[in-house]
Amino acid sequence: MKIVKRPDIMQRIAGRLKRRGKSIGFVPTMGALHEGHLSLIRRARRANDILVVSIFVNPLQFGPSEDLKRYPRPFEKDKKLCRKEGVDFIFYPGAESLYPRDFKTRIAVNDLEDVLCGKSRPGHFRGVATVVAKLFNIVQPDTAYFGQKDAQQAVIIRRMARDLNMPLNIAVMPVVREKDGLAMSSRNVYLDADERRDAAVLPQALKLAEGLVKKNVRDSAKIVSKMKELIQQRKTASVDYISVVDPDGLLPVRRINPCSRALIALAVRIGRTRLIDNIMVGNKGR
Ligand code: PAJ
Repeated sequence: MKIVKRPDIMQRIAGRLKRRGKSIGFVPTMGALHEGHLSLIRRARRANDILVVSIFVNPLQFGPSEDLKRYPRPFEKDKKLCRKEGVDFIFYPGAESLYPRDFKTRIAVNDLEDVLCGKSRPGHFRGVATVVAKLFNIVQPDTAYFGQKDAQQAVIIRRMARDLNMPLNIAVMPVVREKDGLAMSSRNVYLDADERRDAAVLPQALKLAEGLVKKNVRDSAKIVSKMKELIQQRKTASVDYISVVDPDGLLPVRRINPCSRALIALAVRIGRTRLIDNIMVGNKGR
């Protein structure tokens, strides 16, 4: 396994591998790897000749009052996990090398970036789209792997790749969860014991919603209000948003149509930590 820090060197290596006919699988991450990341890494390992994982805590996607400084960076541990999973290259650039002082470009995926998490994190998805486009140009993957955990991110990246004719496939993998249902996240380490207990209310609220849909409750507002009621019972929890949207355009769905899919997405603050999760409901979602 090689660790490559310089974008120009990573790009040259990737170009050479491609010219030799190798398929490149790519898993972009911010490190602090857990089973969620590892599920993408394992899938990518099986499906490609060469596997590249990037580890980069991207300053462009953090707001001024967010956790950029505090974000966990256990690089030695991540390195061991990658080696164990058969990763060929860790791309581990410094912020100065990806964003020199005169860096001016941003990629905006209009409309999709302003809803759901985009409302309380202005600029976040521009930061994500911009870094992912850069990483794609450097790593030149045949397939890049993303998690359904960050559903809006996956929708935005798919749309960017399609709109800009990027020559790669985007694969989206299911959410990996803890035993009590909490979606794995690098941010779960911020939770103290009480908060960790309360955090299980996110998947519980999604299960509740799924149950209501199965019982033919179609009215999104009713489902959302039942979910809020459940979440508000937890002392440390406060709802940022709960939305029912169509999974391609992220537009609100008022009534859930049993024949098509709807995405129920939520963000909840548990103490100071903002957690997200989602579930797909409707026919094709099962
Ligand atoms: P990060 O939060 O490290 O996540 C990297 C990838 O792992 C993302 O595609 C995310 O959806 C996926 N992932 C995280 N938790 C998961 C879980 N519990 N189950 C399944 N997949 C999971 O997302 C980012 O980094 C960044 O925004 C990035 C795309 C790297 C751009 O900076």
